[in-house]
Amino acid sequence: MKNRTVVITGSARGLGFEMAKCFRKKNFNVVISDINKKDIEHAKGELLKIKSNGDILALVCDITKEKDIINLIEKTKNKFGIIDFWINNAGVNQPDKLIWECSSEEIKKMIEIDLIGTMVASKYIMEEMINQNYGAIYTVEGHGSNDAIIPGLSIYGTAKRGVTYFVSSLAKEAEKSGKDIIVGKLSPGIMITDFLVNSFRNNKMELSNKNKKIYNILGDYPWVVAKFLVNKMISNTNNNVRITWLTKRKAIWKFLSYKFRKDKKIK
Ligand SMILES: NC(=O)c1ccc[n+]([C@@H]2O[C@H](COP(=O)([O-])OP(=O)(O)OC[C@H]3O[C@@H](n4cnc5c(N)ncnc54)[C@H](O)[C@@H]3O)[C@@H](O)[C@H]2O)c1
Repeated sequence: MKNRTVVITGSARGLGFEMAKCFRKKNFNVVISDINKKDIEHAKGELLKIKSNGDILALVCDITKEKDIINLIEKTKNKFGIIDFWINNAGVNQPDKLIWECSSEEIKKMIEIDLIGTMVASKYIMEEMINQNYGAIYTVEGHGSNDAIIPGLSIYGTAKRGVTYFVSSLAKEAEKSGKDIIVGKLSPGIMITDFLVNSFRNNKMELSNKNKKIYNILGDYPWVVAKFLVNKMISNTNNNVRITWLTKRKAIWKFLSYKFRKDKKIK
């Protein structure tokens, strides 16, 4: 059987990279993409260490650049023919600043990465999947997706709230295409990645003791979350789904079991 192909945006590190590893273990052709060539080549080197029948393509793609998105789709099609899965994963965190402390340029740029990048990429990949007659598009949600509000995260939260609305709409529009296209959301909970401490434009963020405690109680390593999400994506056959790692039940269990757990992920 022909290997299936997955494209993941923002996959040089963190959740995107861990999902790439899981797909490679399952013999997918894996297309990783990110903003920095050196990082993407390093990630490719790490993926090559995993035994697989699938191939790897590593491309620079800044999700805010339309030509990069088009190039990512074209190069993948030329090499592998069909794109079975597309994952909108690229994202940046907000550097814990209240809205009046941010420049208007910072506001626009964060929305461009966290919301508009996903929308433009979805437009192009949807066109492609309509031509192919099928495919699956998943998008990573985040804080704000469920309307929760935290001061200092208004831009990121607005973007992810928008992402959630957009993906629900996209799923309905996919039905209109009459093709076998699945659109879904990935809800990864809290993951111990660079994202928590290394925000937009590499602003280093000091974690307060309160935040460290929350992350230690609820947070998981990205490889744990990736394995769960990838298995669910591969087995899912329904449109308009949300694949949720940190369910309410799991969160309650994490709070209750915290003092007995030894794995303090953030010191
Ligand atoms: N870490 C968490 O707790 C958490 C929680 C909920 C949702 N998320 C979401 O999960 C996704 C992955 O986050 P992560 O924790 O792995 O973070 P990460 O910082 O480890 O990885 C994000 C990746 O996106 C890339 N990226 C940034 N700007 C880009 C651009 N313009 N074009 C292409 N790539 C770009 C980065 O270079 C990086 O490799 C993001 O969408 C994030 O919003 C993270």
